[in-house]
Amino acid sequence: MENENILTIKDLDVRLFTDRGELPVIDRLSLTLKAGETLGIVGESGCGKSMLASAIMGLIAHPGKVTGGSIQFEGQELVGMKKKDLRKIRGTGISMIFQEPMTSLNPLMTCGRQIVETITAHEKVSRAEAKERALAMIRSVGISRPEKVFSEVPAQLSGGMRQRIMIAMALICRPRLLICDEPTTALDVTVQAQILGLIRRLQKETGTSVIFISHDMGVISQMADRVAVMYAGQLVEYAEGEKIFTEPKHPYTQGLQAAIPRLDEEKDTLLSIPGSVPMLYDLPKGCIFSPRCTHATERCGNERPALVENSGHLVRCFLYEENPSKGGTQA
Ligand SMILES: Nc1ncnc2c1ncn2[C@@H]1O[C@H](COP(=O)(O)OP(=O)(O)O)[C@@H](O)[C@H]1O
Ligand SMILES: [Mg+2]
Repeated sequence: MENENILTIKDLDVRLFTDRGELPVIDRLSLTLKAGETLGIVGESGCGKSMLASAIMGLIAHPGKVTGGSIQFEGQELVGMKKKDLRKIRGTGISMIFQEPMTSLNPLMTCGRQIVETITAHEKVSRAEAKERALAMIRSVGISRPEKVFSEVPAQLSGGMRQRIMIAMALICRPRLLICDEPTTALDVTVQAQILGLIRRLQKETGTSVIFISHDMGVISQMADRVAVMYAGQLVEYAEGEKIFTEPKHPYTQGLQAAIPRLDEEKDTLLSIPGSVPMLYDLPKGCIFSPRCTHATERCGNERPALVENSGHLVRCFLYEENPSKGGTQA
């Protein structure tokens, strides 16, 4: 079993060292990803999803720091790995697509040259061969006139086209793990659907494993085989996608599910769950979700629930305890 996992995260702790103290931005989080599968990570803005992606990429910077736990990629420990070795893994082992391509594309360099340089930085190939591959990659991300886009700078492209170039850059060195951090959040619905379709198609063709991050359960439901729900730095539910979508257990997951915008309905995701994600310097004493939870009891306000297993879900909620002690509620 263990060998099938391309990524194994165990008890990962990441803290922010701030004026307000050491804040637990990722709190003892454990996850696994099987080769070839897509792991969805969902949670509202500020729940630590991008921090988790940065931790996997080895890119946590001050004021953040990995303070505990382990991240194994293909059996290699990434926590504490030398910068030089991490750089080798980024690009050919793990690569990433961000929400806003402009932050990771060079605005002054043509798209073609950026892709060519990504190839030549990692592989010993001639420039002519690299150009050939870059053009083929640009075509495979659904751009019908690759030569034209090859010689354009990112600002000359639409948001959707830029995101396609970003995907081409991320996939050009055939990574075994692709992390997509809200890759379609900045795009309109039609373009979003095209990009999601593109990522699914490329994943099928290349067999790459994917971590797909979104605040939108609707998007996650189109992409993920397994889903991890994060709330304020904690894993609150973890199960197969099918299980999460058809029978969400944690009240937070249920809220995210209910917030999926229906067709033609303009709805702010945050409207369905009252309140907001707590500040890390002001976390509630008991269950972190309890101030927003309609099921909360006195116990929830005082005690932190652990992750427990319940019909194939891991869920952090007293509702699903096998033997709730007095004061707990039966599911
Ligand atoms: N450089 C930073 N300094 C201080 N706080 C940060 C920094 N980066 C992120 N945070 C905080 O860490 C938490 C998680 O952020 P993030 O991982 O970006 O969440 P998400 O991607 O789920 O929206 C948030 O509370 C955010 O304010
Ligand atoms: Mg984010």
